[in-house]
Amino acid sequence: MFEVDTLVASCRESLLDGEPRRVVREILVRTLERPGPVAERLGRSEGGLEVLFNSPQLTVLNVVWAPRMSLYPHDHRMWAVIGIYGGAEDNTLFRRGPQGLVKSGAKVLREGEVLSLGADAIHTVDNSMARFTGAIHVYGGDFVRQPRSQWDPVTLQEQPYDPAQVRRVFDKANASWAEEVSTLAPGDSADPG
Ligand SMILES: [Fe+2]
Repeated sequence: MFEVDTLVASCRESLLDGEPRRVVREILVRTLERPGPVAERLGRSEGGLEVLFNSPQLTVLNVVWAPRMSLYPHDHRMWAVIGIYGGAEDNTLFRRGPQGLVKSGAKVLREGEVLSLGADAIHTVDNSMARFTGAIHVYGGDFVRQPRSQWDPVTLQEQPYDPAQVRRVFDKANASWAEEVSTLAPGDSADPG
């Protein structure tokens, strides 16, 4: 049994703890011990960002990455905890260097796995699989309104974060996948979720 309201209530309670990021990580680890019911409730056959809860202190998103989509480097400027309920998310981490962004690590998150990121994290996300990836993202602040940065995927030039551009990345990936699926033989298409 998985209830969005219960998850959100637990995450909100974590704010009363001195270390909410650690508590939220434990909540997601526990929730994703059984990813099936989460995928049943949150799985989508279209990539996009769905706000499950948003306040000045906390944001909970259902993030569905379309097959083979990539999101260029961006920051959050608040802590984040990411847990996967279906598919996989390839995270590449960066730090600021004197000449611009420098790669500082990588982490492939698979179903049931949870990644905790600090407020200074910068990352790209790739779904290299021919299936949708579903993830719960919890942020320690107002992810929707926080001014932050993105970096051009080619020049790595820092720019203000542009939600409309992110939407276009999702739309393009959804359209590419729809086209790919239309060329598959019946029964070949990958399951969403
Ligand atoms: Fe991110």
